[in-house]
Amino acid sequence: MKPAILISRTLPEDAVALAKQGATVDLHGDANPLARPELIARLKDKDGLVCLITDRIDAEVLASAPRLKVVANVAVGYDNIDVAAATARGVVVTNTPEVLTETTADFAWTLLMAVARRVVEADQYVRAGKFTRWEFMLLIGGDIHDRTLGILGLGRIGRAVARRARGFNMRILYHDAVRADAAVERELGATFVDNATLLRESDFVTLHVPLLTETRHLIDTAELKLMKRTAYLVNASRGPVVNEAALVQALREGWIAGAGLDVYEEEPKVHPGLLSLPNVVLAPHIASASAETRVNMSSLAVENCLAVLAGKRPATPVNPEVLKK
Ligand code: GLV
Repeated sequence: MKPAILISRTLPEDAVALAKQGATVDLHGDANPLARPELIARLKDKDGLVCLITDRIDAEVLASAPRLKVVANVAVGYDNIDVAAATARGVVVTNTPEVLTETTADFAWTLLMAVARRVVEADQYVRAGKFTRWEFMLLIGGDIHDRTLGILGLGRIGRAVARRARGFNMRILYHDAVRADAAVERELGATFVDNATLLRESDFVTLHVPLLTETRHLIDTAELKLMKRTAYLVNASRGPVVNEAALVQALREGWIAGAGLDVYEEEPKVHPGLLSLPNVVLAPHIASASAETRVNMSSLAVENCLAVLAGKRPATPVNPEVLKK
């Protein structure tokens, strides 16, 4: 008998078709996330789950699914899943690294450039019919080339962001809990510095850390105060890495020049202070949302799920220690 899996939200057709080859699929084909009681009810008799970052898979959810062997997240980040609880139950958790690295790095750059060169304000200006004569000092922004880029978190995405910066002839600083190999630093032209030096010296600070207890509010009042008044903050990692209330104050009071944000502390809520500020570019958590990458993420998650259910090693496990048991 085929294993039974729940796919918690509409995915590209190819991924759903792939899932159907190896499993009996219960697909929640709605645009809204499954409400928690329904998620629990539909997961009860399932062997596998393919889920999204909007599904909170905690100890209670896991405990209510006694047959569950695998939780395949369609995302590289997995802070929506209680991995320790899954590991304790022998449930494999997988994510989708690599396939979204370049697309996400492209988007961090999109935000960086959009906020520095005021692209959204410019678009609104033209649409509002205000472009009635050319102005020499209109919508003056900040330069990008030859400036200093500070990368907090030099993992796959941070490195991909760094590679792009070389084309802009930027000086690259980075900080990470683990220092990169000298060869990686050389290849990227990136210099390891402490957090405070990075914040003090960078013209652009871009965040590429996972959300952990240690990275929650990594950027708070003190950090924003260290940044240059002309600097920009980019966040395409996780919202709670930044204290949003502190950021609103910083943007309002000119401690920094602007911010480009793809993620928020309490998604899908956005701090009302951000909505009224012109010096911030806001996106609805779409950094990896290119057509090709969405297909690749979904397919990888489904492959991971089916591999575990077939007794094979998934390509990208988060808790590989479960597989050894
Ligand atoms: C998206 O936010 C991801 O973690 O892939």
